[in-house]
Amino acid sequence: MHSDERGIPRRAFLKSAVAIGGASALAACVERENEVSVPGGTDDPASLPARQHAWNDYAARDDAGNVLPPRHHVLLLLNYDGSEPTEADRQRVEDALRSLERAYEWSNEGLLFTLGYSPAYFESLGGSPAGVDLPEPRALSDLEDPEFDTPDAILHLASDHAQVVLEAEEGMRGNREALNDDPVDAALTGAFSVAERRTGFVGEGLPAEHQDTGGVPDSEPVAEDAPLYMGFKSDFEKSQATEDRVTIQSGPFAGGTTQHVSHIDLNLQQWYEQDGREERVAKMFCPAHADSGAVEGTGENLGDSPQLEDCADPLEDAQQRGVVGHGQKLQAVRKDGRPLILRRDFDSTDFGRAGTHFLALQREISEFVKTRDAMNATDLTAQSAVGRRTNNGIRQYLSVTHRGNYLLPPRETRALPTPEGDDA
Ligand code: HEM
Repeated sequence: MHSDERGIPRRAFLKSAVAIGGASALAACVERENEVSVPGGTDDPASLPARQHAWNDYAARDDAGNVLPPRHHVLLLLNYDGSEPTEADRQRVEDALRSLERAYEWSNEGLLFTLGYSPAYFESLGGSPAGVDLPEPRALSDLEDPEFDTPDAILHLASDHAQVVLEAEEGMRGNREALNDDPVDAALTGAFSVAERRTGFVGEGLPAEHQDTGGVPDSEPVAEDAPLYMGFKSDFEKSQATEDRVTIQSGPFAGGTTQHVSHIDLNLQQWYEQDGREERVAKMFCPAHADSGAVEGTGENLGDSPQLEDCADPLEDAQQRGVVGHGQKLQAVRKDGRPLILRRDFDSTDFGRAGTHFLALQREISEFVKTRDAMNATDLTAQSAVGRRTNNGIRQYLSVTHRGNYLLPPRETRALPTPEGDDA
């Protein structure tokens, strides 16, 4: 391959393939990764979890027990081709998704995926989903002016293997007859059109390999071992909601969850050039962590908890130190000792810039809004020198460009559900 000749590292090549997409990217990827043997799936739907978002028991974990998110991601924004869902379309959608489950093990080594539906989809069927808090997306701070994503549906494909997300996408677009040597019964494009594709990655080494994009400073390279562009590990077990906590408890969509997906443009130039490491630790975690040196390297040493309980009171730090940490502020929005949202975000080079697809699951969208309000911290800015942007956690480095809300129904009603929750 040309890329070998140019000396691009193997994994960098693989990620570029996901960002590029399509049959030739997949072919090149398979040629490069041909030693990868991808575990096959199951013929028995009953052996799969009832929740589409049940990933954690099937994902990899690190030594401290933290879930390691799948490394490669594709989001397909989809529009339904019909007006009222027909039985034939429902069957096509279900057959397409069953093809994925037969082809790949439900795991990070195989494929994890969800299919969600937007408020606009339910609106077009005359209502909102019964018993679910699923408003249209809106701006969540006075500093942002995002585009609102309003496709009917969103498919999230995730795997540790670039070739799996690419191949699965090609299958769902009707461009392949077999996936992982298993025949494809139907394509999602039998019922939907693809409006947009977005891609991303998370995990040690991947951000460093993708710093050849907008917003990354030349002077300060992203650390080789960083799992995210901003240089720190995230998603510590004790700072995540459990899957049970984000699951809808009653009504026809019980067993489902809501998904918020924003795209955030990252200003890494400022993050790395304006501040030193201590300031970065103070702004990401809290000033006390900067003082004590609690965070080594990417923060791997913190085990399964960012130890935010060791941070001072946010108002005290805001007033006395003039700076407050991101994690420190967000700790206010916990229930039974854990956050309300389950973060499954990943980084991206979409739109030609270093960014994050901030994908979060919660029982109700209002819980995401509440969490985001704590990040805005208007109570602190009113009572201290901390600005809306400046010294207010990591707000200065983030610009939200897109927001979308979706319902991930339980697996049983995932094929073109009605607002009442029927799939038949
Ligand atoms: C690119 C942007 C972001 C980065 C790099 C980032 C990074 C982090 C880090 C390093 C932590 C500390 C520990 C941990 O992750 O377990 C954290 C905590 C957290 N973040 Fe973010 N974050 C980002 C954006 C957001 C956004 C947009 C939200 C939601 C509004 C959010 C919500 C949270 C929550 C709920 C916690 C846990 C707080 C607790 O333990 O109580 N983050 N984040």
